[in-house]
Amino acid sequence: MAPDPRFDVLFEPVRIGPVTAPNRFYQVPHCTGIGYRRPETLAALRGMKAAGGWGTVCTEYCSIHPSSDDDPYPSASIWDDEDVRALSLMVDAVHEHGALAGVELWHGGAASANHYSREAPVGPYSRPAGVWDPVQTKPMDKDDIRNLKRWHLEAAKRAQRAGFDIVYVYACHWYLVKQFLSPSNQRNDEYGGSLENRMRLLRELIEETKEAVGDSCAVAVRFAASAGGPDDDQDVSEPRAMLEQLADLPDLWDITVHDYSYEMGTSRFVPEAGLEATMSWVKEVTGKPVVSVGRFTSPETMLRLVRQGIIDLVGAARPSIADPFLPEKIRQGREDDIRECIGCNICYSGDQTGTPIRCTQNPTMGEEWRKGWHPEIIPPRGSDASVLIVGGGPAGLEAAVALGQRGYEVTLAEARKELGGRVTLESRLPGLAEYARVRDWRLTQIAKLPNVEVYLDSQVDEEQILEFGADRVVVATGATWRRDGTGRWLEEPVPGWEAPSVLTPDDIMGGVLPSGPVVVFDDDHYYLGGVIAERLLAAGLEVTLVTPANEVSTWTTHTEEQHRIQARILGLGIAVETGTSLAHIGDGEVSLECIYTGRQRVLESTNVVMVTSRVPRDELYSSLADRIDTTRIGDCLAPGTIATSVYSGHQYAREMDAAPLADVRFRRERVVAPRSTGPASP
Ligand SMILES: Cc1cc2nc3c(=O)[nH]c(=O)nc-3n(C[C@H](O)[C@H](O)[C@H](O)COP(=O)(O)O)c2cc1C
Ligand code: SF4
Repeated sequence: MAPDPRFDVLFEPVRIGPVTAPNRFYQVPHCTGIGYRRPETLAALRGMKAAGGWGTVCTEYCSIHPSSDDDPYPSASIWDDEDVRALSLMVDAVHEHGALAGVELWHGGAASANHYSREAPVGPYSRPAGVWDPVQTKPMDKDDIRNLKRWHLEAAKRAQRAGFDIVYVYACHWYLVKQFLSPSNQRNDEYGGSLENRMRLLRELIEETKEAVGDSCAVAVRFAASAGGPDDDQDVSEPRAMLEQLADLPDLWDITVHDYSYEMGTSRFVPEAGLEATMSWVKEVTGKPVVSVGRFTSPETMLRLVRQGIIDLVGAARPSIADPFLPEKIRQGREDDIRECIGCNICYSGDQTGTPIRCTQNPTMGEEWRKGWHPEIIPPRGSDASVLIVGGGPAGLEAAVALGQRGYEVTLAEARKELGGRVTLESRLPGLAEYARVRDWRLTQIAKLPNVEVYLDSQVDEEQILEFGADRVVVATGATWRRDGTGRWLEEPVPGWEAPSVLTPDDIMGGVLPSGPVVVFDDDHYYLGGVIAERLLAAGLEVTLVTPANEVSTWTTHTEEQHRIQARILGLGIAVETGTSLAHIGDGEVSLECIYTGRQRVLESTNVVMVTSRVPRDELYSSLADRIDTTRIGDCLAPGTIATSVYSGHQYAREMDAAPLADVRFRRERVVAPRSTGPASP
């Protein structure tokens, strides 16, 4: 496809204070679970975004002082010159491609419990600190405010020394500056009370940062344009009044909404450009450039918002994670090659679990340095071997694409009449339509690869596979949901599970429906239990969701959607029994058991749907393994997320015919113990 000249506007430079962004593609601050711990890994990740055409690339939230440490969540830090050295790796990697580098200076205030530094948390007044942590903040006195401003200033100067082009004053997401801005600020001095007083700290930080580094760095403010999310508290009067007063003080406004689960909403709850209605007034009150977000993967949407004067810069976190080369693909007229984010927030689960970022769509994310993986470049084939892949789910499709791009002769045999495996089936459940993008991007790529042949409706057995004569066989046959109830809480089958009334998600996705009141037993704890419950309710059934966890879909706290899921389930009228397991399944009834007291009660129920755990479908692999070069990938190897399946398929394809692998398959960054250690000075 030829480049579409309509999109030229997206490649116009934008002046931001003393610096100029080479185009409108702006990677807003996003954490990576890498932070200060692995500077080379981080530099390579950010550099890849710049290589892919993002004209501005920012850090994650970057702590300015040990009184704001977020362990176990690995933020960046800019506490001293060691940090300057580490961060300048990233700056250099970004500058190498002509992009601007931004740093989001951060003080968490009451949001930081300081588990690592053990400094007392600080806040506008004494209030609980961290997340459910049994500690409180020290109320900040005037000296503390002076210190905070000094730390911010020194951090800004360090950022300038590291080479950053944009320095943030971070005024949202419930961190320290926002705690001052909020009506909940209980101070009664000149930093609390009236709007003007609550804004004082922000105003001073902007002014002092500009004064200190404004000659060479733009000063950006990240700010929430509404009190809640667009579907919640749409009151913009106070944010608007604040923004009107500060209108042209910073060089750039980076606009979000207060509700993080909306700003970074999963596709189950928030559509593309979901913030538009709430923030479209911002450009009316400032003459400075505005960047905002909205899981933008469609160039048409980006263009519309720029043309309508709602944004100047197209902000993106997740679209840049799913496809670091998104801008370059638009520039080259290759929009159909964009690996569109599916809005699953697996990327966020890295930071939330204190581990490096991963992405469902982009298996190379986070692997740029440690494995040398590039999202657009893959080494040519290492032999003339032909490969037969059995199974066209996310793992099989990814392996087919990556092997095909390497130049191998690939045949993919899929038993069903359609490709995509679990992704296709799940995408038909409520709210998961965008998951089909995992399949669709891969099908687009396969269509461009003459060396990849796909056969549908082709159930193959061991003999047929041997007869086919491929040099290598890859078994990607997925997994089957267990019917017996074994899962995370229940380690043994539930008595009565053999009854025909017991169903699994495979049955529901295959079109089987219960005949009466139904219990969904969720001992899986990710999204599927809740989604199946919604599906059954939509079919007119009375549904009770039973889970041994203390909340619905508890793992989704890591994807920032648990609250929304539980609100939706309760709002729809699905009965919820938390802290509860199954004791027995009878005829038309189920015995529930409290996991704390062991107390049982009987619930009338025609059917039970077990959403507990899965069994790898690896019979084919076992029967072939001794007879031909066979590998299993994806859920067939170890059932997991869609992201683990895609990764597994990609890893197989990358490593085929590679030099023998070491036990540790990736480079590591680590602290090397000094030769001699003396006691720390008191
Ligand atoms: C993995 C991840 C980490 C994030 N970390 C930060 C952060 O450190 N600081 C911040 O201001 N916002 C952070 N965000 C929010 C994003 O900057 C952005 O506002 C949000 O994801 C919506 O943009 P998107 O739809 O383009 O992803 C993060 C988002 C994601 C997905
Ligand atoms: S993990 Fe999911 S939400 Fe995050 S960038 Fe990748 S596809 Fe998008």
